Parts: sequence; structure tokens; C-alpha cells
Amino acid sequence: MKIGVLTGGGDAPGLNAAIRAVVVKATNCGDEVLAIKDGWAGLLEGRLEPLSLNLVEDIEMEGGTILGTSRTNPYKEEKGEEKVLDNFKKVGLSALVAIGGEDTLGVANKLSKKGLKVVSIPKTIDNDLSETDYCIGFHTAVSRAAEAIEGLHTTARSHHRVLVVEVMGRHAGWITLEAGLAGGAHIILIPEVEFDIEEIAEVLKKREDNGKLYSIVAAAEGAKPKEGKELLTQTEEKDAFGHVRLGGIARVLAKEIEKRTGKETRATVLGHIQRAGAPNSFDRVLGTRYGVAAVQLVKEGKFGQMVSLKGTSILSVPLEKAVGRLRTVDRELYDLAKLFQAH
Ligand code: F6P
Repeated sequence: MKIGVLTGGGDAPGLNAAIRAVVVKATNCGDEVLAIKDGWAGLLEGRLEPLSLNLVEDIEMEGGTILGTSRTNPYKEEKGEEKVLDNFKKVGLSALVAIGGEDTLGVANKLSKKGLKVVSIPKTIDNDLSETDYCIGFHTAVSRAAEAIEGLHTTARSHHRVLVVEVMGRHAGWITLEAGLAGGAHIILIPEVEFDIEEIAEVLKKREDNGKLYSIVAAAEGAKPKEGKELLTQTEEKDAFGHVRLGGIARVLAKEIEKRTGKETRATVLGHIQRAGAPNSFDRVLGTRYGVAAVQLVKEGKFGQMVSLKGTSILSVPLEKAVGRLRTVDRELYDLAKLFQAH
């Protein structure tokens, strides 16, 4: 069998562990693996090359993806679907392992309905794919963000300032909530729950009255004020999947907080640091388990499925279900985090 593997969308720590596992498991079964370069772009343009055990040795410890990635959407390219299906045949692939988030797997699902033999692995630091407890990259991103939020306490405390930390998360506040909880943020703002700037200012003033002269606010890039204003963006330009580039919430909040509380306030944007660098042990193990399970699905001919983690077990679910809706933060977890916020 010839199995192609691609990674699409934003990079995430743990991708290389999954790629290595696909190669190790497939080789073990006597199959060949081809690297598809830069996500769907590689299949559109016929850019593939063989992967060997030597090429994947020790890569589970490295961040990023050795395959390269892109946000290319074949459905936005002329005859994109046709080209992908043709190239798949031309190269003689028997199956494809597509590793990605809602966009990449959305394309995989459409192609699966056209007969492409594809299985998928969930990856996104945002952790917003449904039908799985965890996506590759999330745990590492939470650790990075939590470490940063924790570290910022010393600066905020020394300067008696409010620091607003901008955390990644377009539609879901998983990273902000968990990193905020673990890193001791005093206020946590997520896309799922609209915030009231007056309320935030009141809480911060009350903290000051109680002798707490500094505060940390963790805000997801996709958090929105109650007045229902537009999301803050870096540019209005949309990518091939129709997403604008978010950014700016920390700067705007800092200004508004300073105006209302009179406290010196600064903004810190964590940005790509959250998904850069080596994966933590959890993502190395998760990527490895997902990679092996994906090849197992291929061997069993169970196409149109996504591997998933439920509790401690690796299962598989129909791709259609996995991309059908986004998994946002449970209200229960948000309320729990609220218990530990400023009072
Ligand atoms: O992949 C998810 C993500 O990291 C989001 O949290 C963020 O909004 C987006 O990607 C950033 O995308 P890019 O790296 O293309 O700027």
C-alpha cells in the first residue's frame, strides 16, 4: 500500500510525532508512506516525496511539521477537487492520512464523499474540534500560555500594573481558560461569554481597594464585548477558508481599563509563541497514538473516519460528525474558573 500524509492549517506541537508514528506503523505493516508537501497545496500541485524511517528518526521531539503546512483550500482553486483526485490516482496512492483542524478536515470530509480514501487526525491548538477530548498541540499551547501568564505576575506586581494578556483562540476559549486558571489570571475572557468592560473595571477597582495592587487579565483573541461589537482584527483580508486574522483585543482592553480605573495598564500578545517549539510529553504521546491508530484504520479499510481521544481510549468517529460543529468551552468549566477569579 502507498499511504500519503499531509498536515494543513496552523502548525501545532506534536504533528511530527504523528507523522513519525504513521511512517513507523505503516513500514511495520510493509507499506510505503509519501510526504505530501504543504497541506492540500502539495496534492493540488503533485508535490510528494517518499518518507523513510531514517527521515522521521527522533522528530517526535521537534515542533512544527516536517511536511510543511498551508491554509490552501482546494475548493477555492480552479478545478481544485478534480486536481486533488487526479493526483491521488496518478501517484498511485491507496489512502491518505490528513492531519488538521476544522478547515483541513472539512476538505477531507468533502473529498471523502467523492470517494477519496481518507482518514484523519485532529490537530489544533484551539482544541475546538468536536468528537474528541483533545487535539494535537492544545496541551503544549496551554503550558506555554500558562507559563507566560504566571511569569507576568512578577512584572505586574513590581510595577503595580494591570497586564492584559492576549491568548490565541478564534471561536473557543479553551487555551485562555485553562492557561488562565493554571497561570493565576484574575480575569478570564473567552469568545463563548461576552464581557462587560464596566464590570471588569469594577472588579479591578475592588481588587485595588482590597490592597491587591496588580492584576492579570487573560483575554482570548476572539473575546467580544457585550455591546456586540465586531471582532478585533489585524487585517480585514480573509484566508482561503474565510477567516480574518484576529488580534488587538489586549491593546483595546488595556486602554479602556486604564481609562476607567486610572491604573497603569499594558498589553502583552503571546501570539505564535503558543504553538512554536517542542511539544510537551502529552502531545508527543497523543500524536504517536493518533498516528498508529490512523494507519490501523487504513488497514481495516475504515475510511471517512477521524481518530479521537475519549477519556483515555483512542477511538474513531465519522469525519462528517467531527466537522459538523465546533466544540466550545463548557459553561460548567467556565463557572468553575470564575470561582478562582478576582474577588
Ligand atoms: O491554528 C489555530 C490558530 O493558532 C488560531 O488560534 C489563530 O487565530 C490562528 O491559528 C492564527 O493563524 P495564522 O498562524 O495563520 O496567523
